Amino acid sequence: MGNRTLAILKPDCVKKNLIGEVLSKITGAGFKVLALKMTKLTKDSAGGFYEIHKERPFFNDLIEYMTSGACVPIALEKENAVEDFRKLIGATDPTKAEEGTIRKLYAESIEQNIVHGSDSDENAAKEISHFFSRKELLENNGH
Ligand code: RTP
Ligand code: MG
Repeated sequence: MGNRTLAILKPDCVKKNLIGEVLSKITGAGFKVLALKMTKLTKDSAGGFYEIHKERPFFNDLIEYMTSGACVPIALEKENAVEDFRKLIGATDPTKAEEGTIRKLYAESIEQNIVHGSDSDENAAKEISHFFSRKELLENNGH
């Protein structure tokens, strides 16, 4: 068993009908899906999730964007999950992301960048519990 990270396929990913394509890159890179759902965030939920960015100039736009449509949070497991997932998605700004990364391939801008990935093991645990109950994570753990 590896450790965990939280991904979110963001509203631009869902709107562009890229859920399957992006998820297949994720599982193809060796990540195991522990739990997954499709949900539309409320302003409160998105604000809580991105609380650390509350004082940033882009915060209000970020909340508008993250609540503009449905998104797909996914709890993932792999050895070295947090770091490997951030490598797979690439830099926040797609023009700075490495070739072959998910953001380089699909993202439009520094804001509309297709996918979220946790930035530390501690935040991964918090973010997974933002979306999934212990029961949801345990029940799906038998595969
Ligand atoms: P994320 O948390 O979504 O995985 O992205 P990240 O670590 O690569 O970037 P972070 O600094 O945590 O920013 C969170 C999200 O806010 C939007 N953003 N907009 N307009 C801007 O300058 C700007 N900067 C960041 C992006 O959607 C970014 O992923
Ligand atoms: Mg971040």
